[in-house]
Amino acid sequence: MAHEHTPDKIVVTTPTGNVGSRVLRLLLRAGVRPTLLLRDPDRLDPAVRERVDTVRGDQGDVDTVLRATRGADRLFWVDPPTTGDDPITGHARMGANAARAVEENGIGHTVFLSSVGAEKRHGAGEIDGLARTERALDATGANVLHLRCGYFFTNLLMELDSLREGVLPTLWPLDFAMPWVDPRDIGEVAAARLLAGGWSGRQVQAVHGPEDLSFSRVAEVLGSVLGREVRADRVPDDDVRAGLRSVGLSAGQVEGVVGMAAGLREGFVPEQERDVLTTTPTTLAAWAHTHLRPLF
Ligand SMILES: NC(=O)c1ccc[n+]([C@@H]2O[C@H](COP(=O)([O-])OP(=O)(O)OC[C@H]3O[C@@H](n4cnc5c(N)ncnc54)[C@H](OP(=O)(O)O)[C@@H]3O)[C@@H](O)[C@H]2O)c1
Repeated sequence: MAHEHTPDKIVVTTPTGNVGSRVLRLLLRAGVRPTLLLRDPDRLDPAVRERVDTVRGDQGDVDTVLRATRGADRLFWVDPPTTGDDPITGHARMGANAARAVEENGIGHTVFLSSVGAEKRHGAGEIDGLARTERALDATGANVLHLRCGYFFTNLLMELDSLREGVLPTLWPLDFAMPWVDPRDIGEVAAARLLAGGWSGRQVQAVHGPEDLSFSRVAEVLGSVLGREVRADRVPDDDVRAGLRSVGLSAGQVEGVVGMAAGLREGFVPEQERDVLTTTPTTLAAWAHTHLRPLF
């Protein structure tokens, strides 16, 4: 007699985001009907909407998080960008909601979108908040994987005005090389881990992109893809602080941004070394060709 198999319930947060949208697509292709926790289901493609279950709500609301994850076997958790005064506390609050859901709903496997630098725990600006979420999830004792990701290519989309003037501003020393990654490739790693059984305990895996890049090299690559001169420009921390304050960011938000670079640019050695598992394929040139070039 055939046994009925109940498929695992997989819950995905931020399914409209850079990484979550890729996780969602891959789960659909794998034949999974995921449950999406999101603020506005109308933002989903109608063809996608009929292939998923949705729970509408804010990840900052613990009741919503508990409701969305009731009966869940697997969870893809992203701390969404927080709008409060202090991003570290904001992430910690989100992380506490995730941890409570893992504990109360007995979620077997959670994949968390973290960052290179979370291993420092303190002194890396907003990344300290991701570290707080890592710790909260670790304390559940459930199976948890932290994806410590490099710097997203998509951050360049916040610099379009400067890039149009041929300048790539940065808080980092121009020759400081660090991992840069396409968020879509992170989504592939996350989806693979959500679908794979057979891993257990607390695990950390880095997602480093194809190569470490300095801002000078990034400017060179962008210049060649965009067919115009682009130069990297190191901006002093205090100038960045003044700029961010002038567009309305709170003191905590400003330090969240400046602190990331300040904490990771000097004497920081990432815990995870680049290797065959952490290296993902999409190059900056390929990403820029698809996503940046059409905007110029
Ligand atoms: N940028 C980097 O270099 C970098 C590096 C390492 C780690 N990270 C981490 O990556 C995460 C961001 O990932 P991403 O780039 O894929 O996201 P993203 O494209 O910035 O999208 C943000 C997502 O969060 C959702 N969202 C925002 N506030 C929400 C709330 N209160 N409740 C529920 N959903 C909410 C948005 O949904 P709607 O707007 O559609 O409602 C959207 O799906 C952050 O945790 C960041 O710390 C970033």
